[in-house]
Amino acid sequence: MGITAIIPAAGIGTRLRPHTFSLPKALLPVAGNTVLGHILDQLVAAGVDRVVLVVGYLGEQLTEWVQSTYPDLRVDTVHQAERLGLGHAIYQALEGADLREGRGLVILGDTVVKADFAGLLAAPGHAMGVKEVADPRRFGVAVTEGERIIELEEKPEEPRSNLAMVGLYAFSDLGALHRSLQHIITGNIRTRGEFQLTDALQRMIEEGEYLSTFPIQGWFDVGKEESWLETNRDLLAHVEEPAPREGVIFHPPVHVPDSAELSDCEIGPNVSLEEGVKFNRVVIENSIVGTGVVVTDCAIRDSLIGANSRLIGLKGCFNLGENSEAVGE
Ligand code: G1P
Repeated sequence: MGITAIIPAAGIGTRLRPHTFSLPKALLPVAGNTVLGHILDQLVAAGVDRVVLVVGYLGEQLTEWVQSTYPDLRVDTVHQAERLGLGHAIYQALEGADLREGRGLVILGDTVVKADFAGLLAAPGHAMGVKEVADPRRFGVAVTEGERIIELEEKPEEPRSNLAMVGLYAFSDLGALHRSLQHIITGNIRTRGEFQLTDALQRMIEEGEYLSTFPIQGWFDVGKEESWLETNRDLLAHVEEPAPREGVIFHPPVHVPDSAELSDCEIGPNVSLEEGVKFNRVVIENSIVGTGVVVTDCAIRDSLIGANSRLIGLKGCFNLGENSEAVGE
């Protein structure tokens, strides 16, 4: 039987404006793909054949992108009109796609995780991706006995462990998750005003379900500018070196599509270029550059440049949304 993945991706991505004015967070470019593309490539490789996307903000763009990029994948879209929390988003997905049984995964649409997905799907009972962090207070926190999770708490002020939930959850029976979410929603059980997935998981533990931890090798999020660039650096490490080009010096790792027109440039390290960029006399490092961007006579570092922008005669660090224009003296 196939495996379904639920991907909540309804968020506005306020902290990544101006980029998220025109792109949903899950479609931000990173290391030659989108955030969601990195997630879906891993899921498809692990045998996932159906995806339920929970969309809200710029949801149509997201659905269109997934359908055209993964034509063989069954994609259901559930629209979350009111953002009442992650638990509510997942409940809407289960209801909207009529999922009440069978194995399933939940993975947050803004989180790229490096893990053994096939192993996760073969785990007995329900398994959650966790990672030790220095300060777990802004995460769901798991208290364990061996691999078994005995308690979960959402963003505790005084965490009882430093195992943070990374946003990857595998369920051996989606029915148990559905019952638990239904319980907290019909009972209006909220934490910090929202229906939390973590509270539903805690309820599953109380109902006697077996939840275990699953180790994660890498955890990359795209929450803010710095972590977006950091994720780009981490994921670029696995990208092939570009073929040499005349008049261009590459400092790998870089992602450079064939369509990029480059003359008299020094590119890298840690640079991702999207399709159709045109660079003339450019030195650039540690940056992500969107589709169709034109740059002339610039030295750029630590920058995020939205699609179809134009930069001329500038030096420094830039954070520009789509269609921006910046000209130096
Ligand atoms: C959500 C979950 C939290 C988890 C985190 C991972 O929180 O509620 O348990 O640790 O994702 O990123 P959010 O970041 O949406 O507030």
